[in-house]
Amino acid sequence: MSSTSTATVFRPRAVTGFGLMGMTWRPVHTPDEQAFATMKAAIAQGATFWSSGDYYGMPEPTAGLALLRRYFEAYPEDASKVTLFIKCCVDAKTMAPKNKREEVLASAENCFKVIGSAKKIDVLGPARMDPSVPLEETLGAFKELVDAGKINGVGISEASAQTIERANSIYPLSLVEIEFSLWTPDILTNGVAATAKRLDVPLVAYSPLGRGFLTGQIKSVDDIPEGDIRRRFDRFQPENFNKNLELVDKLKSFAEKAGVTPAQLALAWIRSISNSPQAGTIIPIPGATRVERVEENSKTVVLSPENKAELDAILASFTIQGGRYNKVLEGLLWR
Ligand SMILES: NC(=O)c1ccc[n+]([C@@H]2O[C@H](COP(=O)([O-])OP(=O)(O)OC[C@H]3O[C@@H](n4cnc5c(N)ncnc54)[C@H](OP(=O)(O)O)[C@@H]3O)[C@@H](O)[C@H]2O)c1
Repeated sequence: MSSTSTATVFRPRAVTGFGLMGMTWRPVHTPDEQAFATMKAAIAQGATFWSSGDYYGMPEPTAGLALLRRYFEAYPEDASKVTLFIKCCVDAKTMAPKNKREEVLASAENCFKVIGSAKKIDVLGPARMDPSVPLEETLGAFKELVDAGKINGVGISEASAQTIERANSIYPLSLVEIEFSLWTPDILTNGVAATAKRLDVPLVAYSPLGRGFLTGQIKSVDDIPEGDIRRRFDRFQPENFNKNLELVDKLKSFAEKAGVTPAQLALAWIRSISNSPQAGTIIPIPGATRVERVEENSKTVVLSPENKAELDAILASFTIQGGRYNKVLEGLLWR
């Protein structure tokens, strides 16, 4: 496969983003009126990089795409304001990747069908990597979609530094979406941030608020509704949850002293690492279903070097209990 010159590769320019998973990948969906107002607020606040997936739906996996279709059909003038990243190519029940050429093309066509013509998917990519399918095959299929003008670029998610390097040499990546937050700083030490910086590939920081945990608003496992995916993750099991709350308490005190909210502190920490010696561009995509949360999360808070050092010391003194996902799903990460 011939590769595309990096001069022509599509890369998002937004500095902040918005995650739409919570609107539809929950037992109770956000009503359209509330969802639309929140999406409008994101645009108004400059959070114009949007991330969703073709499996963000309960019980219908494509509910997230259907929401986007309804939004952009209602507000066609917003289509050009938003850079949209969609993840696809997974079995919605198991998250097992489906990255063979035919699977990629079928998954993409389904995305185009559900989202309709109201909004072009700017960047499309596999939600999980599959070492048993050659990267050349997977990326070759996405290249076909770029060449046909159906998408502008390709993004990958949950990839190791080695995979990012190899994938980008096969076909220049538009972005890599990866979990990054105060309680998931792994990319700073496992080579992902350094590699993406060297290759000039933007990182999209997903679950930047620790799936809501770092905001201090979830005080007990009972605050998470039955059927919510977080209930299946190790960090949210009672024995780990209660220990991890000790970190949240420290972060809350720190935020209070700094005169910001815990969510703003969590995002400011990420922004302080974006375009620093440690990392290239990092676009956080906090998820929220309410206007006031989008407004709170979009407020620019700058951490002083002293505050950053103090915060890093708090993190270094704490060992997070439990993995990011669970025994089954952990096997699909960093591949
Ligand atoms: N690539 C991947 O494998 C992957 C995996 C997970 C997520 N993602 C992406 O990352 C995006 C964000 O991740 P996420 O939703 O898991 O976690 P997150 O952004 O870390 O946290 C979202 C949670 O925090 C709550 N919240 C947001 N702002 C708040 C505030 N200011 N105060 C209090 N609570 C606040 C939200 O509440 P409400 O929603 O109830 O308003 C929601 O429960 C997703 O939408 C998705 O696009 C990607």
